[in-house]
Formats: sequence, C-alpha cells, structure tokens
Amino acid sequence: MSARTFGILLLPLLIGVCFLSTGETRQSANFASEKESQADTEYSEIRKAPEKARAKRNPLEKDTDAVAAGRILFQQRCAECHGDNAEGGKKGPSLRAAEIQHAEPGAIFWILTNGVVRKGMPVWSKLPEPQRWQLVSFIKSLGPTPARADAPPANASHPPAKDSISRLR
Ligand code: HEC
Repeated sequence: MSARTFGILLLPLLIGVCFLSTGETRQSANFASEKESQADTEYSEIRKAPEKARAKRNPLEKDTDAVAAGRILFQQRCAECHGDNAEGGKKGPSLRAAEIQHAEPGAIFWILTNGVVRKGMPVWSKLPEPQRWQLVSFIKSLGPTPARADAPPANASHPPAKDSISRLR
C-alpha cells in the first residue's frame, strides 16, 4: 500500500473519531445540566417537617427585639454559608426563596433543630430554643426575593426588573 492510499484510508477514520469525541462532550454537558436541576430540590427537606412541628407558634412573635437579636445570631452562625442577608452563598441556598418565606415558623424551627446533615446544613439543637426562635423571626422578617444568588440586594441603585415588581404586588 502506498503512503497516499494509506492516508486516504486513514482520513475517514480520523473524521469519525472527531465526531465521536464531540458527541461525548455533548453528553457530559447534558449530564452537568441534569445535576443542576437536581440541585433545585434544596428546599425539599423543610416540606418534610411533621404536622406537630409546623403547628408550633413562635413564642417570640410579638417580641420586638427578636428580629434584631436574630440578625446578630445569623451574622455569627449562618451568614458564612447563606450570605449576609440570607440571599444565598457558596455553601448554602437562599433563605429568601418562597419555599422558606412561606413556610410555617414551626417548620423553620424544625429544620434548625434537626439540620440536613447529609447535605451540609448543621444541626443547631445546641442553640437554646429562644435563640432558634429569634433566628426564625429574623428570617421571616426579610421577605422573599428572587432565589438567585446573583440577585442584586434590595437597596441596589438600579430599579428592580419588571417581573420582580409584579411579584412584589
Ligand atoms: C456550613 C454551612 C451552613 C451553615 C453554617 C448553615 N447552613 Fe443552613 N443550609 C446549608 C445547606 C447546604 C442547606 C441546604 C440543605 C438541603 O439541601 O436541604 C441549608 C438549608 C437551610 C434551610 C432550608 C431547609 C431545607 O429545606 O433545606 C434553612 C431554613 C437554613 N439552612 C437555615 C440556617 C440557619 C438559620 C443557620 C444558622 C443558624 C444555618 N442555616 C447555617 C448550609 C449551612
């Protein structure tokens, strides 16, 4: 076989290999986006709070100092994962998402008491109960914002996007 025929035979083979490898990258890209959509279930744990835990009232509901005390506790214990304003950080999801803001105070208290250890959310049962309720008061005082970690803070100078205005109404 001359070198030339060999080259001609080799060419389709090379093209084939190229196609195969681009197919592979596409597959792994699909896999990555699948993983991302699985991460959307980060609030599934709070839905598991038992009826009895949900029904618990926040005993500090009318305590006007609870929110301020909760804010300090949050900065000390939670901000490193959930962000300074609970908007979400590298390690923890936003707590301003509707799933948390619309959850019963008792359900949030239950999460703090039990954690989601296998997913990186620590147990806070060593914090005295009143402090856990202060944290609940603080979280509830924030109100919902879009669940994106890159969302601008509430006091950003530019006006909020149209769709977030309509959501506020
Ligand atoms: C070491 C990082 C870390 C710290 C510190 C931390 N969290 Fe979390 N938290 C997480 C992670 C990760 C999740 C998501 C768990 C999951 O996927 O269900 C989470 C979830 C939550 C949730 C949502 C529950 C759910 O359904 O998953 C609440 C509420 C919460 N954290 C509150 C707090 C509060 C309040 C503090 C401070 C006392 C705190 N967290 C401290 C990492 C952290």
